[in-house]
Parts: sequence; C-alpha cells; structure tokens
Amino acid sequence: MFLNQRFPQTRLRRLRMDAWSRRLVAETRLAPDDFIWAIVVKAGSGLREPVPAMPGVMRLSPDQAAEAAREARALGIPALALFPYTGRDERTPDARLALDPDNVMCRSARAVKDAVPDIGLMCDVALDPYTDHGHDGLMRDGEILNDETVDVLARQAVLQARAGFDIIAPSDMMDGRVGAIRAALDAEGLKNTQIMAYAAKYASAFYGPYREAIGAASLLKGDKRTYQMDPANSDEALREVALDIAEGADSVMVKPAGPYLDIIRRVKDAFAMPTFAFQVSGEYAMIKAAAQNGWIDGERAMLESLLAIRRAGADGIITYFAPEAARALNA
Ligand code: PBG
Repeated sequence: MFLNQRFPQTRLRRLRMDAWSRRLVAETRLAPDDFIWAIVVKAGSGLREPVPAMPGVMRLSPDQAAEAAREARALGIPALALFPYTGRDERTPDARLALDPDNVMCRSARAVKDAVPDIGLMCDVALDPYTDHGHDGLMRDGEILNDETVDVLARQAVLQARAGFDIIAPSDMMDGRVGAIRAALDAEGLKNTQIMAYAAKYASAFYGPYREAIGAASLLKGDKRTYQMDPANSDEALREVALDIAEGADSVMVKPAGPYLDIIRRVKDAFAMPTFAFQVSGEYAMIKAAAQNGWIDGERAMLESLLAIRRAGADGIITYFAPEAARALNA
C-alpha cells in the first residue's frame, strides 16, 4: 500500500479552510484607493438625473459634482473622472463648446476644487460630447481628421487644466495627441498636469450606455473603427502604449477592462508603467441588470469584477461602481 495513493501529498485546500488563512494568502487586494469614480456632469443646479441604462448612476450638475467629491473624500476615493452631457442644440460640427471656459466641465472642475481642493480630478479629452455627429474628432467628407482634431484637443486640454483638472485623459485615439497635449501644457506653464493616455482603447460595444448618458447615442453616425482599436488585436495595443509613453504619458489605460484582462497584463508586464483600466458603462450595466433580475449577487459580482481587473495588473480602475464598492469595502 503506497501512502501517497491514500493521501494527496499536497493539499491546496488546507490554506483555504479558514477565513484568517485565506486573508493571509490573498495575492491581490482591493481598496477605495484603487478607484477613480466616473461621473457624468450636466449643466444646471441641484440636478441628479438618473441614466436609465445605468441604474444608480445620475447626471450631476456642478454643485452636485461637488457633493460627490465630498462623498469621495469621506469614502477614501482619491480621484474623480468627469464626463459631460451635452444636448443636441449645443453641439456643432466644430465642437466649439469644447473650447468654452464656462462649459459644464470647467464649471464642475471649479466647483469640485472649491469644495475639496485636495481631491484628484481627471478630465476626458475628446470631442464626442461636443460634435453634432458624436464622433471624437472633426469630420470632413465622412473622414475623422487626425491632425486638425489634435490641434483642438491640445487647446481643450490647456483650458481644462486651467479650470483645475489634474489629469488630462485623451480618449480620442488620434495619432500624436499625447505629444501635442504635453507640448501645449508645458508651453502654458502647466508642467505638473498629468497625462493619462487612453492608450489601448478598443472600438467596443460596451460603450453603449455611456453614449446615452452623454447625449451622443442617437447622433452617432457609423462607428469609431477608423480610430479606436480592433478587438481582435493585442500586439497593436503594445505599439499604442509604447508611442504614448514616448510622447510623454505619465500613466496608461486599457479600455474596456473586464473583456480585456489579457491586454492589461501584457501592458503591465511589458512597460511596468502605472497602468489603469476603465470598467466601462456596459460592464457596469450588465452587472446591474443581472443583479436587478436576481440572476447574480450584485455586490459580489461587482467586487469580483474589480478584483479581477486588479489581479490582471491594473494599478487603478476608473469605474462607476466606485462609491458603492468603497462602501462595501469600508463596511
Ligand atoms: C469618448 C469616450 C467614451 C467613453 C469614455 N470616453 C465612449 C466612446 O469612445 O464612444 C466610454 C465610457 C464608458 O462606456 O463608460 N471619447
């Protein structure tokens, strides 16, 4: 009789038997420190307008964004990322509202920084909230113009940094925009403004609820495949990230997050850069919808989805779940 036929030599279950032991051997941890809270802002005052496809998410007016900043501080969330809703009548082919120092993004930045000066504030840089066709860049004869768009983005970035944003996050996927934005910021003396590049951003179906949230859903003509990445590609993500780092990005991002964990891991391993992932609107909506139907445990699925993104290599996560997850973790 051989001993190792009756008893497994190694019992991995031994370490899993008790909660104290599981805690000691946990390789990844999730904390409010890991979150950047994604918030949609809209002009007005006292406004908290539900976004139907994103249960629990509201469009907030600048004063309410300031309230959210106070909540974030109390919960231990280090930073907010703002995205603007814009009505159809304010959108133009030249996206001129993007360059208005009194647009809702700039007003929200000032309100947030007045309320909570030491919170981190991140700003999406792209033209889709401001164009009448819902694309991230300027369009001529059906083509999204790269270099003309980059000029506008650089000016938009300077305006937003002046309004109080600490992190400029270009989400447009034009070539060369990180370098142009860095040069424009430096030329204006904004040398400490960070750039988080949406470096590997995919042409994804998971952005659907967001486009509704910012008022772009019914306007968007066609898709964004001439500038956002093909979900089939992974080597190409490394080229995108390498370029953005060379152009001066302080940190890089992969987006979406959950379906692209392999990309997060490759980027982290290849560059050892501060690496972020954006758990996008569709990822949020799927978990919420299934939970509302009683098909999954919403809180557990939320925390598992976030933990998995961290395990894949993300240092931080941009997520609409930030306050809910922070409350669950602080409990
Ligand atoms: C736009 C932008 C998008 C998101 C962030 N910035 C949508 C898009 O590219 O169409 C998506 C966010 C989300 O789905 O939560 N430049």
